[in-house]
Amino acid sequence: MDPARVPQFLLVNGDKIPGIGLGTFGSDKYSPTEISVAVEDAVAIGYRHIDCAAVYSNEPEVGNAIQNVLKTGISREELWVTSKLWNDKHDPNDVGPSFEKSLSDLKLDYLDLYLVHWPFPNFHAPKVDVTSRDPHAKRYIHEAFMATWRELEKLQRRSLVRHIGTSNMTVAKLKRVLEDAEIRPSVNEMELHPHFQQPELFAFVREHGIVPVGYCPLGSPSRPERDRTPEDSVDLEDPVILAIAERTRLSPASVCIKWAVQRGQIPIPFSVKRSQYEASLQAVCAPNFSTADMAALASIDRNCRLIKGQVFLWEGAKSWHALWDELSPGEP
Ligand SMILES: NC(=O)c1ccc[n+]([C@@H]2O[C@H](COP(=O)([O-])OP(=O)(O)OC[C@H]3O[C@@H](n4cnc5c(N)ncnc54)[C@H](OP(=O)(O)O)[C@@H]3O)[C@@H](O)[C@H]2O)c1
Repeated sequence: MDPARVPQFLLVNGDKIPGIGLGTFGSDKYSPTEISVAVEDAVAIGYRHIDCAAVYSNEPEVGNAIQNVLKTGISREELWVTSKLWNDKHDPNDVGPSFEKSLSDLKLDYLDLYLVHWPFPNFHAPKVDVTSRDPHAKRYIHEAFMATWRELEKLQRRSLVRHIGTSNMTVAKLKRVLEDAEIRPSVNEMELHPHFQQPELFAFVREHGIVPVGYCPLGSPSRPERDRTPEDSVDLEDPVILAIAERTRLSPASVCIKWAVQRGQIPIPFSVKRSQYEASLQAVCAPNFSTADMAALASIDRNCRLIKGQVFLWEGAKSWHALWDELSPGEP
């Protein structure tokens, strides 16, 4: 598909970001090689935006794919490449080296966007189960986050990255960051799918000129076991989505993608299967849904957060809701 047909979202400084990206987190299921093959092919068929992260442990292979596409005549300026600072690199001394490692793994001389992956310096070993805890885990400490953020600001001032942003934030945390940032986040990456629409945070970021990028846009059907709980619902089986899919001759996944873009967020679906990532790309250009269909899709929000972040909890924390500022005052 001609990438010129893909809607672009306007960032606060007037730059444009492609309205769909390809995710690259393999959910502990797909190998770096499978993902790099998909990245190369996805760009060949029209994707221009790739969502990467150091913790996905595949940036060297994704970098090879990017190098290959640059040899086909696609210019660096046509691509949008995002990476993210992992939680064990929040110390201000670690930010620059960690960024440089992603840059060199991706074989680029600048990034389009660099995000703080989570607002906590808490991390877990790869592939752990949901009960695992980092004994040094801490709750959100604004001053510590801002010390990390200052280092991202320096990277942008040095033109090593065009934009900086946040991920997994709440309105309360973002308010404080907006008060203290010298360079404000251009983007906030957040979980967004029809069963988890985060209306308050979504409205807040847009009011502040921050573009929402939505992860798990299909409800992450292949997410790892540690990110599954019995109460999770399945977007792709929702009767409203199935009915709209049948009537519009789109797949349920394509309905989720079209809804996302039309609502005003950038979906970053993951797939290594051409039939899937091609369908998602085509979905962004499908005819707009009617106001009635958009209202029906708005009504199926179930506040069903899938990526709860349990493994990032600190000693004594009562539940994962603490990570999202959802506990009553006084609760740990
Ligand atoms: N910032 C953050 O903290 C954060 C957190 C999570 C994710 N992310 C980013 O968001 C990306 C997407 O999230 P995700 O992979 O968890 O969820 P997702 O994109 O909602 O789900 C991906 C899965 O959906 C299936 N799928 C993909 N396209 C499809 C289609 N057109 N039709 C039917 N099924 C389709 C595939 O399952 P099968 O492989 O089983 O076919 C694929 O593995 C990640 O790769 C990552 O880049 C960021």
